[in-house]
Amino acid sequence: MKLSKRLQKIPPYLFVELDRLKNEKIKEGVDVIDLGVGDPDIPTPHEIVEIAKKALEKSEYHRYPSNTGSLFFRKACAEYIKRRFGISFDPETEIIALIGSKEGIAHFPIAFINPDDVILCPDPAYPVYHLGAIFTDGVPHYMPLTWENNFLPDLSKIPQYILERTKIIWLNYPNNPTGAIATKEFFKEVIELAKKYNFIVAHDAAYIEMYYEEPPISIFEIEGAKEVAIEFHSLSKTFCMTGWRIGFAIGNNFLISALAKVKSNIDSGVFTAIQEAGAYALNNLEKIVPSLVEVFKKRRDFLATELQKLGYEFKKPNATFYLWVKTPKNISSQEFCKKVLQKIGLVVTPGIGFGNFGEGYFRIALTVGEERLKEAAQRLSTLQL
Ligand SMILES: Cc1ncc(COP(=O)(O)O)c(C=O)c1O
Repeated sequence: MKLSKRLQKIPPYLFVELDRLKNEKIKEGVDVIDLGVGDPDIPTPHEIVEIAKKALEKSEYHRYPSNTGSLFFRKACAEYIKRRFGISFDPETEIIALIGSKEGIAHFPIAFINPDDVILCPDPAYPVYHLGAIFTDGVPHYMPLTWENNFLPDLSKIPQYILERTKIIWLNYPNNPTGAIATKEFFKEVIELAKKYNFIVAHDAAYIEMYYEEPPISIFEIEGAKEVAIEFHSLSKTFCMTGWRIGFAIGNNFLISALAKVKSNIDSGVFTAIQEAGAYALNNLEKIVPSLVEVFKKRRDFLATELQKLGYEFKKPNATFYLWVKTPKNISSQEFCKKVLQKIGLVVTPGIGFGNFGEGYFRIALTVGEERLKEAAQRLSTLQL
């Protein structure tokens, strides 16, 4: 039996060697500190868990959920979007619940991509964007995110023949892995280009509430964006709910209905008890989120200061819980991460794992407590390369 050509096209998992080394170190009894995973270590706030517990008892929730999400959940999404960005979306026709934003991001291209259509994907990036192209026999075209351009793609470098074949551009701000945020001018340029060449702007806003200074903007704050854009939101990082699997997408009725058509033929929606907890979280976002963000802000400030002292080069991020740092002495990202694990028992992620333009960088996820972070900084100060 052979794997499909599509599955064979998926590049080998780059972290195999690092994972093997990490497990070896743990077996040897090394106290490994894992700054690799983008998964908050903080438990979901108690009040959200309590809502879910009560919702579990509701027998009407034990049946299939609504495919597109219960109206009460979609209304909570619409109200949050209105409060935060001042934009109105019709909860009945312009919002859909997702089983985590990853699910929506992976399925969305099925609605629009024919073989050989182009999907513009940032590089480095969350891998699901280009995997969506592979799964639909589309063609990913990579847009480098460089230090010099503040980790925004340079739209003028995309060849015209590519733009003419483009159906979707993926953007993600605040950005994983670089921590960058987008400017209004940049979003405006993208919307203009999308209208000119008739393609969809798919914006992944999974980290839009994890910010430390200026609030990041929604793509819909650009006039006319609703004609061409869809935006993916997630409750995972905002409320430390990665395990619950809940997110949502907003956009015009055509784009949302297209995604709904794909999804209704694949999944059967989000468990209604989880939607009730999600609605509560969104309705109480301004009360719940600041104390969570404060924890990550303190960690960011602490580690940024320590890394600066040690001479590491990076742009201090205004959002996300990632630090995107240049590897010292031009060492390759895989080599650096291997050495860090071998010599000081620290797991950080090699930039190459996010795409070719991630080479020369490594990513630190601020997903361990203060004491462990202090220990990590101390170990880094002893690192001899
Ligand atoms: C950039 C980005 N988008 C989307 C997701 C998916 O989040 P979820 O499916 O938990 O909503 C992640 C998760 O790490 C991410 O880093």
